[in-house]
Amino acid sequence: PLPKTLEILGERYPTDDITNVPASIISKIPLRLHTQQHHPLSTLRGLIESAYPDFAHLSSLSPLVTPFQNFDELSFPADHPGRSVTDSYYINRDLMLRTHTSTHEVETFRKGETKWLLTADVYRRDEIDGSHYPVFHQVEGARIFDANANGLKEVEEDNERLERLLAKENIVIEDIPDVSKTNPVQEGHDPVFSEALARNLKLSLNTLILRVFGQATKGLVGNGVGKEEPLRVRWIEAYFPFTSPSFEVEVLYQGKWLEILGCGVVRQATLDTAGVQNKIGWAFGLGLERIAMVLFSIPDIRLFWSMDERFLSQFEQGKITSFKPYSKYPSCFKDVSFWLSKDSSLHDNDFCDVVRDVAGDLVEDVKKVGLPPVYPHHRGTQAYSQIDHFVHSKTNRESNCFRINYRSMDRSLSNDEVNEIQDQVVSRLKQQFAIEVR
Ligand code: PHE
Repeated sequence: PLPKTLEILGERYPTDDITNVPASIISKIPLRLHTQQHHPLSTLRGLIESAYPDFAHLSSLSPLVTPFQNFDELSFPADHPGRSVTDSYYINRDLMLRTHTSTHEVETFRKGETKWLLTADVYRRDEIDGSHYPVFHQVEGARIFDANANGLKEVEEDNERLERLLAKENIVIEDIPDVSKTNPVQEGHDPVFSEALARNLKLSLNTLILRVFGQATKGLVGNGVGKEEPLRVRWIEAYFPFTSPSFEVEVLYQGKWLEILGCGVVRQATLDTAGVQNKIGWAFGLGLERIAMVLFSIPDIRLFWSMDERFLSQFEQGKITSFKPYSKYPSCFKDVSFWLSKDSSLHDNDFCDVVRDVAGDLVEDVKKVGLPPVYPHHRGTQAYSQIDHFVHSKTNRESNCFRINYRSMDRSLSNDEVNEIQDQVVSRLKQQFAIEVR
């Protein structure tokens, strides 16, 4: 049963009918990995901060925010899916865990900051696998200029400086137009200024990317980008409610395009809400884990949360080194099959949160799988097909099957231990949802 209050960072908050933040998530809030000396996420934060030495560097804001701050102030429409309880964690109707660092744009601009970086833990309900974790870290960056001829001159001069700098580097950039019909200048913005700003944003981020990925290859062999191979960066048109024009950036690393950030020209409404007048600027938001996983060769996102000395002792603040995996412990697969009545619902993320809450980081991934064979002659043919659920024609119930892969990063799990966890998962599911285990 749900407690009447939840304690988070030393304060108590009342719960209500939409509370959905599990204890396993609350326990992560105080850890603030991006500030832990020697931690790869802290080193990456430092590397990014060093690319913006004249910016304010913020990193201590609480993750407890209002839905108003997280969404409304950033022009998210009322029906945006990110608001739903299946996608985000709510303490109660008025308080949630931030889903992105953009949440703090308005308050940071309101404080009068004009060039700033902000690093923080962010929270999103998600599936469970090697590259998704419901807590991750982002760096938000923003810069605003005077919205007049002097400001435009400042942007243009900065653009010339950055273009000269990049021209000397071994980088190939697939660019797209700064503005277009589908990625328009905001109403009320001077098109010349907006275009110069989009250029400034791109040049600034290309320089950052070169620093981050170039640094990683220095002195490292076989880490993706060879000495003569250029670094490849690709710009893609995007949409965010709080920027226009908007972009995403991908970097080619070890043969794969890696999506690393979203950005754009800040919606004037954001600056208006912050009480900032006669300014215009850009913002970006960059995810740390994906980049850190490739830079430090970290194969599983759960490792960032490891307290094991065999993980932590491998890293030194400010140094990018390849993680040497210690032996991988064996997997233990367990299935849960159940009927769900037609009028009840269980979102995949609900299932995953129960598993996480019970098993913590002992769960490696959860997959929806096909049905276990019901008839003997199906064995080996239909078994575990791609079909992950079907609706029974007579009872109108839906059948579901999830396969949970239990594996510790630090030790071997005993079968008894896994069975006990599995039993708890099943009984929690029965308690919380209208299911009938098959
Ligand atoms: N907050 C966005 C995200 O998490 C990224 C973003 C930041 C986009 C700033 C534009 C400007 O996806």
